[in-house]
Amino acid sequence: MNQHLPGECSLASGALGALCLSLLISVSSCSSTDTNSTGSTAGAAGAPVAGAGPAGSAGISAAGGPSAGAGGSGVSGGSNAGSSGSNTGGSGGAAPSQPGECTPPPVGAPIQKLSLTGCMNPTNVTKFADRVIPYEVNSPLWSDSADKQRGFVIPAGKTIHIKDCAAMPSECLDSADTGKWVFPVGTVLLKNFLFNSKLVETRLFVRNDEQTWVGYSYQWDATQKDATVIPDERRRVMVDSGAGMVSWTYPNRTDCMKCHNPAGGGTLGPETRQLNRMVNGANQIDLFDAKNLFDKPPAKPYQAALVDPLVTPADDAALDKQARSYMHANCAFCHRPDDGDLGMVNIDLRLDKTLKQTNLCNADPVKGDQGVPTAKLLTPTNPQQSILWLRVNAPEDEGRMPQIGTYQVHAAGVKLLGDWVTSIKTCPQ
Ligand code: HEC
Ligand code: HEC
Repeated sequence: MNQHLPGECSLASGALGALCLSLLISVSSCSSTDTNSTGSTAGAAGAPVAGAGPAGSAGISAAGGPSAGAGGSGVSGGSNAGSSGSNTGGSGGAAPSQPGECTPPPVGAPIQKLSLTGCMNPTNVTKFADRVIPYEVNSPLWSDSADKQRGFVIPAGKTIHIKDCAAMPSECLDSADTGKWVFPVGTVLLKNFLFNSKLVETRLFVRNDEQTWVGYSYQWDATQKDATVIPDERRRVMVDSGAGMVSWTYPNRTDCMKCHNPAGGGTLGPETRQLNRMVNGANQIDLFDAKNLFDKPPAKPYQAALVDPLVTPADDAALDKQARSYMHANCAFCHRPDDGDLGMVNIDLRLDKTLKQTNLCNADPVKGDQGVPTAKLLTPTNPQQSILWLRVNAPEDEGRMPQIGTYQVHAAGVKLLGDWVTSIKTCPQ
């Protein structure tokens, strides 16, 4: 069963405005009756390298590779061509005849089938292509108990920059941003969501230019033969995981940008303390360095790894580290001082902030009391009197944190934050 949440189109703003335009053609929530599909059929002839053809195919073929993209009509006129070409979300849709090379499509004009993006393996579409560099994070985002796989593709000859706030204060809000990775224009990052080894969604987060990141969601077929791009809408489905039905909600493209906001740095997982991790017997950052992926390799020893938030803590000191790791990964990209969306809320949940600097302890809430008039954001020893805990434990649509992107309470996270609040005896002066 699909649930289309109406009105999402009007949420688009700034760089996302172009997406909205293209969706006017095909998405009912944007109340258009004109389903122009002429671009689609014509586009089928457009092989990636040719890059010629009517507007509809330009968006797709330009994604074929760096050379086609740079010279073709797709990048310079990308959003216009894409939006008039109706290759977003149409049924059937245009199809390039061969896979691209996993580069960003023109804004708002994603390739319809994941198998044709060049990001997936041509002989086994459920696996990443060889050009994708896989990675793991130490402290993942909770996503309604889905398993995840992550990877990225950066353009040949380009490198990843790691923020060093002491050397370059201007690239950071403050020292707590040290170690965040900045990907070059042309990067595509991927994330798979699986239940029981069965893919339900693949997300692409792409960097079109200095200012523009765009996220696309692909919905996997039950047969696992391919995934199809979802128009800019939230879509809730029931998925047969092979071990029971699970509810899954695909975020819309504005949701992507609320979490993947410019203040948080666009990409959210890749930072030294998230990727400082042994995978198959080797440190991932060492491996990337050996591949010359950095403009300047991070100094050793690397920043300390984020601890696994969900193991049983040995003592209160370990518990504190785990709770801070959890909030850094699940909350801090929204709860930092420069997230423009948050108005009056002034908590800072980044790892390097002291408890005092988080502005939680004994602080009055500015956004409501969750039905507990005496509650503070954090009341030492008392989760029931702490908005922080009440909000992670709240029902959907009743102020639950995070407010988007997840739809089920994370029981282990609730316990962790409850135990953490209980362990805090007094507020720091
Ligand atoms: C609730 C906030 C939230 C929403 C909504 C969200 N993401 Fe993310 N996403 C994250 C966080 C946090 C990470 C890093 C942690 C991880 O990988 O588990 C992440 C990781 C990713 C990654 C791996 C690269 C990276 O930045 O770490 C991709 C790709 C991605 N998301 C794509 C998307 C797309 C596309 C959408 C919209 C369709 C989306 N995300 C919506 C929070 C969100
Ligand atoms: C997608 C961005 C986003 C994420 C992720 C997020 N929050 Fe929030 N948070 C908000 C917004 C927006 C509000 C204001 C809510 C309102 O207006 O009711 C808020 C409010 C709060 C408040 C109340 C502040 C006050 O002064 O009233 C607390 C506490 C809070 N969040 C904790 C968390 C925790 C803990 C997490 C991680 C588990 C988290 N948030 C994740 C966006 C986010």
